[in-house]
Amino acid sequence: MCGIVGYIGSKDTMPILLDSLKKLEYRGYDSSGMAFLDHEAHLLVRKAKGKICNLEELFRAQPLPYTRVGISHTRWATHGFPSDINAHPHIDGKNSIAVVHNGIIENYKELRDFLKKKGCKFVSATDSEVIPHLIAHFYKGDLFSAVKQALQKLIGTFALGVISRDHPGMLIAARVGSPLIIGIGEKENFIASDVPAILDFTRRVIYLKDSEIAVLTKDKVDLYTFEGKKVTPHIDTVSFSVTTARKEGYPHFMIKEIHEQSSVLEQMLALRLKNKKLVLEGLKLSDAFLKNVRKVSIVACGTAYHAGLVGKYIIESLGRLSVEIETSSEFRYRNPIIDKHTLVLAVSQSGETADTLAAVREAKAKGAKVIAICNVVGSSLAREADGILYTYAGQEIGVASTKAYTAQLMMFYLLALKLATVRKSITPKASKELMDQLLRVPALYKEVLKDIHKIQKIAEANSHFGCFLFLGRHVNYPSALEGALKLKEISYIPAEGYAAGEMKHGPIALIDEYRAVVCINPQSHVYDKMSSNMQEIRARKGNVIAIATRGDHEIKSNADYVIDIPKVADILSPLLVALPLQLLAYYIAVKRGCDVDQPRNLAKSVTVE
Ligand code: G6P
Repeated sequence: MCGIVGYIGSKDTMPILLDSLKKLEYRGYDSSGMAFLDHEAHLLVRKAKGKICNLEELFRAQPLPYTRVGISHTRWATHGFPSDINAHPHIDGKNSIAVVHNGIIENYKELRDFLKKKGCKFVSATDSEVIPHLIAHFYKGDLFSAVKQALQKLIGTFALGVISRDHPGMLIAARVGSPLIIGIGEKENFIASDVPAILDFTRRVIYLKDSEIAVLTKDKVDLYTFEGKKVTPHIDTVSFSVTTARKEGYPHFMIKEIHEQSSVLEQMLALRLKNKKLVLEGLKLSDAFLKNVRKVSIVACGTAYHAGLVGKYIIESLGRLSVEIETSSEFRYRNPIIDKHTLVLAVSQSGETADTLAAVREAKAKGAKVIAICNVVGSSLAREADGILYTYAGQEIGVASTKAYTAQLMMFYLLALKLATVRKSITPKASKELMDQLLRVPALYKEVLKDIHKIQKIAEANSHFGCFLFLGRHVNYPSALEGALKLKEISYIPAEGYAAGEMKHGPIALIDEYRAVVCINPQSHVYDKMSSNMQEIRARKGNVIAIATRGDHEIKSNADYVIDIPKVADILSPLLVALPLQLLAYYIAVKRGCDVDQPRNLAKSVTVE
């Protein structure tokens, strides 16, 4: 899984690729590499383990000649650990053909055995290395034909960029499953894993479809099917812009993004609750359809899945509609029981997560309507869904999702309100009250942030614990899962999220004086139940950090530390609880010296299964 950029034109290639590749670092950052053809058609390959800045350093130390064609890659390891050798581009045995690959070649073992028998020598542990060898195997002077034949043999998902010493004026691209776009410039053309990567150079793009091959020269782009039939390209002009996020004085993007949440939610509400009227532009579904929906099915991964879990509580509670939720990776292989009366909600910050895209395709094939709740404008998910509710949280750089999560939560409240209104499961008075409460949330975020130093101290005082439990009930059970995920993602501390009622069925065995337990217990109808769980933890010497409603003095007797949040309606509490959970994870990770914005082994968007 990874990000790809390619260029063919008259300008110097390396700076263009470097600039574009950095915009794809969200897809992986364990190693990167580039291949170029110089004016004598020598194939020049540079690779570096680690982040793209290491490759940049290499170019500074070993400057390249001016080149006019090249391919580049930033990697998130699937097959073979991160190293210079396993980094892309991969090349064939004659050092003639270079390939960058995003995806997984599932039949690589058979292909490797076959190619080894033909005398190919493999140097890496990757699945991808079979591709240049396979193309070379079929190559008889016609690169397009060789690529086409190789594609017939590949099983799995892939987006590819191919260049060859024998064809210095040509760049070939192809895809199945993994996204790839072509950028059309003036006497120059591009390939990239997503649009923002090349927006500084062109706004004219072709979204390559599955099983299509593109042959790029500096002057034109020709499209073909894998069988070689010519396809007329459809060129889109991209209207959105992407601003480059900066830290603006914050030590990390994550803390900047945590601070941004108040204004993100404020802007979202200004757009979506105009004069207390719901504006869900992009939903594209009639009230009649929404009224007759029989079931909602939510698909998502990671943090977006946790937002979906909260969404289930909200939609069921307000819309009185049955909601199922499943991680996309399970949904796609389960043969789910859905039909044209099912509303599928696909939640994704990036809109590029491979499993979520596959789940959406599965749902559409079964006749369901799919609405995406997505942050990245113009992403694959936004294009494939029947309707799109953008969260407009702005670019999120920190790999651990913060503002995108709370924006997803807010979107669930708004969507649930819409469903409840259409289905008449909420009175106009209750609807107005809920809107009033939602409109107050951005200001409440600022209130929580006033306690940031206190939360930092609590985090630091607990940063030595080697294991954390996060417990919550009802609508804050998903908050517990998200709190645990945030902590493990960025601090590498084993952390478990549990429904507090389940503690007695296992996790309680973990509790002793060496564990920290975060108990999410704002005022609610399950307050007393949760308080009992807190006492059970204290009785076993566990260290309790409570998140509670401001003014709750009783909780102090059950906790070692208390973090306050302002009082809100029960159903809205996950919005406020999220903030101290994010801050706890952040300050613990910082105290432990972790790479908060780019934690090891993770990627912002997972574009393979
Ligand atoms: C990765 C990221 C998570 C994210 C998940 C889903 O695992 O590290 O932060 O929640 O992917 O990403 P999506 O873009 O679909 O929300």
